[in-house]
Amino acid sequence: MNAIKILCVLAVCAMCIPAMGADIKAGPATLFKINSPSKDYSAAARAKIIQENIDKVLLSAEVPALRLEERPDKSMVLWSGNFKIGDVLKEDAAKNGVTVAEEGANWIKAIKAAYGNYVNKNLKFILSSDIHNCHIEWYGVSTDIRMRQWVKAITMEQNRGKTDALFLVGDYALDYWFNGGSYNKGTSNTKAFFDKYVKALPNAIPVYPVAGNHEQYTNAKWKEITGFDRFYTVNMGNCMFIMLDAFADELGPDYDHDGKYVNHNVAYIKSMLAKYPAKNVFLVSHWFEKSKESDEFKQLVASEPRIRCMFCGHDHNYQVDITGDEWGNKPIIHTGEFSYAGAVEAKDDVCWGYRVLRVGMDGTVSTEYVVPAHNVLPDGTRKLVPEKTLGKWSKKY
Ligand SMILES: [Fe+2]
Repeated sequence: MNAIKILCVLAVCAMCIPAMGADIKAGPATLFKINSPSKDYSAAARAKIIQENIDKVLLSAEVPALRLEERPDKSMVLWSGNFKIGDVLKEDAAKNGVTVAEEGANWIKAIKAAYGNYVNKNLKFILSSDIHNCHIEWYGVSTDIRMRQWVKAITMEQNRGKTDALFLVGDYALDYWFNGGSYNKGTSNTKAFFDKYVKALPNAIPVYPVAGNHEQYTNAKWKEITGFDRFYTVNMGNCMFIMLDAFADELGPDYDHDGKYVNHNVAYIKSMLAKYPAKNVFLVSHWFEKSKESDEFKQLVASEPRIRCMFCGHDHNYQVDITGDEWGNKPIIHTGEFSYAGAVEAKDDVCWGYRVLRVGMDGTVSTEYVVPAHNVLPDGTRKLVPEKTLGKWSKKY
């Protein structure tokens, strides 16, 4: 609970300074400097402030590196800058019968837990799309074996170093395929994919999906299957992923078709940018149709420096598409496939794979498409193919 006090103190800075009569100043290189006795803040006041400001404090602020230091004047400093805990920390230490340093360490632990372990570190994400758990056995490989290879590939990537989230970029089956989908015949292979294979990922990892053009489920049904709305936002440390719905039209049809593209929801993106002002922003959608997309969307992407890039699936390719002036030359980065090769990929090889995205504390964004080692070629023959990396892109902001 001690972490709550820090959150509270941060929140107090935003809204209650005059009323509390505390000596709180914003520091140039830090969040806030506080030299205020903790008695200024009642438990009830803290609870209220936290409730009202937790989003603002946890998700909007640039989260600084956490470090505990004892200053010559015996005050304790938490944060990389000049954030003084002062009497609040001393009081808690006395109450808990531990040293100030020990109490400070407990605070850091609790704050990290509250932030979800996303502070003070470089972040790593996996993006995977067009996995198509369905009746077609591409390259002579049974769907179940291919799905298990997907689970193995994601797991091995996780085992190379902690992964903070897995983003799924659409097309988990062929549920509404125009050529004969499974759902109107009574089977949701998307549900089977989530229930059987996503749950088989052995390492705990948050999984965030968007719907593809083969998943025309109503929002209610989609939520029932995946636990998510068709569009939403994910905040982690200094990153914000705005998960968009490019096929939001003609949902819940009683006939099969391949999805109807809609322009992206600019109002929603703007509302998230306003709500969380200090983030590296990534737009994730099954598809960005350049020739159809609205001027308003393109202008937002071009003019908003926080939008770093876009991630899509759909065409089963892994290239990095630098969009041009109209889009501010922001890249649309394709997340490949784990089913059948698209048009751009080398046809002499299977490109079942996924993307890794790394976002550094120094502002570097880098990504690469990884094809894990496998032994299946498109003609069904088998030979060991070594892992390879494709579609690299990197930029320091
Ligand atoms: Fe697909």
